[in-house]
Amino acid sequence: MKRLLIIAGVLGGLAVLAGAGILLYRVATGPRMYHQENIRSYEALMPLPPAGSVPLEAAAGPPEAAAAVSLVNPVAATPENISRGETYYGYYCRFCHGEEGRGEADAGKGYLPIPAPLDSDRVRAMNDGQLVRAMLLGTGHQPVLARIVPVESCWHIALFVRTLGPAATAP
Ligand code: HEC
Repeated sequence: MKRLLIIAGVLGGLAVLAGAGILLYRVATGPRMYHQENIRSYEALMPLPPAGSVPLEAAAGPPEAAAAVSLVNPVAATPENISRGETYYGYYCRFCHGEEGRGEADAGKGYLPIPAPLDSDRVRAMNDGQLVRAMLLGTGHQPVLARIVPVESCWHIALFVRTLGPAATAP
């Protein structure tokens, strides 16, 4: 009986040692955080903005800083780009500003004041850079749109907004 107990004790001790050994081995050689694909994807580099893009943060700074930035639309006003702009307008703007850009959409009507018309003289007088700044950071918007509308899509939307309203001439 005494012998049995000793054998059982030794076997138990060996099993614990073996378990600890296997665990140590797995920890030393097993997969690391940086081998995991879902972690590595966060290390991916973001694509560069299109050439000639203007940083909105700078444009949103003090007036002198804003004036110093040359706000030129880097996206050409081709029919294809305008129609892409129309699609993006459908994603991000139409439910407030409406089909015609007059604030006639259901979500827009809930605002006070309702979304400003996008075919107004005021909006027409803006250059594309000012228009993009107004659409991302202007009253009635901030700060959500600046976070969700990709910068490149803004320039397409600006091209499309130019075509809104009866007197607008598509470039
Ligand atoms: C949540 C509703 C909502 C969404 C979405 C929205 N807007 Fe607006 N927008 C408003 C409101 C409200 C105003 C401000 C009306 C006012 O203060 O007179 C405004 C104002 C503007 C102005 C300024 C007009 C002016 O006369 O100064 C522009 C330009 C504009 N929006 C463009 C856009 C574009 C382009 C999009 C899509 C990227 C967009 N908005 C998305 C509600 C919205």
